[in-house]
Amino acid sequence: MLGSMLLVTLLVGSVTAGTVPAEEIKPAAPAAADVLVPRGAYEAARQLAAEQQRQSTSDSSSGGLSWLRQNSVSEAFSVLFPVSGLDPLICKTTNDDNYNAGICLRVTDCLYYRGESFGACGGGIGSCCVFAKKCGETTDMFISHFVSSTFSSVDKGSGECKLTVNPMNSNICQYRLDFDAFSIIGPDASSNCVDDFFGVTGGSYTPKVCGDLTGQHMYINVKPGGGPIVLTMDTSSVRTMGRKWDIKITQISCNSPDRAPAGCLQFFNETSGSVKSFNFRRQNAFIAGEGPGELQNMNYGVCINSKVGYCDVTWNQNPRSDFTFTISGDASVPSEQFTSKSGTTECTSDFITIPGGYVETDARTTRPAERFCGTKFPEVKTASQPYTLHVVTDVDEEGDKENFGFELNFRQNLCNS
Ligand SMILES: *[C@@H]1O[C@H](CO)[C@@H](O)[C@H](O)[C@H]1NC(C)=O
Repeated sequence: MLGSMLLVTLLVGSVTAGTVPAEEIKPAAPAAADVLVPRGAYEAARQLAAEQQRQSTSDSSSGGLSWLRQNSVSEAFSVLFPVSGLDPLICKTTNDDNYNAGICLRVTDCLYYRGESFGACGGGIGSCCVFAKKCGETTDMFISHFVSSTFSSVDKGSGECKLTVNPMNSNICQYRLDFDAFSIIGPDASSNCVDDFFGVTGGSYTPKVCGDLTGQHMYINVKPGGGPIVLTMDTSSVRTMGRKWDIKITQISCNSPDRAPAGCLQFFNETSGSVKSFNFRRQNAFIAGEGPGELQNMNYGVCINSKVGYCDVTWNQNPRSDFTFTISGDASVPSEQFTSKSGTTECTSDFITIPGGYVETDARTTRPAERFCGTKFPEVKTASQPYTLHVVTDVDEEGDKENFGFELNFRQNLCNS
């Protein structure tokens, strides 16, 4: 009973804080649990949460807190008593068109760290806090966003713009960048990012990219306990465009289940999906003054997590258009003349590699083929794990015309099917 009252006091206390005008709130000290809450109190609260859960499962008409669903009780506790070393809760933002996710923090902590609150979370007692950072700023938050200063107004670029991302603790091994929005000037006719470009330094290899990367992601590996990574967005101050970016940055602990294997710039954790080259455009438009899309000087790996019960993978060209595999050669000719090429003698400049790949030549025979280029992609299967796709492009578009890159679908197949 006394325990229940303690819980009520904690919950109510925090809710009240949320209704006080911002300037009256004295920011709380940083959220390290050891500083704010005596260890004993944390343990007591945990036991209380457990007891609360037992009560609400055994007795449907349990006391005054039955409005809290079971998991909201434990969520509320993780907001009130953040444990250092554990990742904070991720929450969905509400009343907001720009960001889809934030971190669930106490209202006072969101203010203290200068985040912006978008709705409630954590059983209603936390605020879904977004950390939007701009040129020249620094962040060390679990999740933050690197955003353009205005969302999409047609203007000249602003030159060099950097965001410094420091690890939030000494156990960070990886960062995931999600390009929730990303539209800057694309490559020139030789597929080079000359006017605008984006790059990351301080971690594992990432290619220099430009154009449209909306919906894409990248993983960057770092040494735990090391320095920051720096995200550089460089936009041409002599060319005008409605540029826009919102790059979500998530810090991944060394022992996190969300950590992707090393060597995978992109990692897909589904049984089926779609992989696009960077700046593969939705509309197959040849933008005047720019190349059609393929970026030069790429050399990276894409990994598919092999799922239990599934034994191989089928890769297909997305059937949406004839241009979904235009990697090398002339794609300005009528699409009936598009040709598929494979092998190390035919594909030397721009190509993709699927280790262990084979192509069915008829119902009973298969032909091994791992390296593909040209303007058409055959159906390719592989059972070689880990499932990877390597993307290689050289430094020019010599002999190539209107190459867009690729959009390939993968499907993991059940064993014995
Ligand atoms: C992949 O998905 C599984 C199941 O949802 C999850 O347990 C695992 O942590 C995910 N792995 C990564 C690296 O995201």
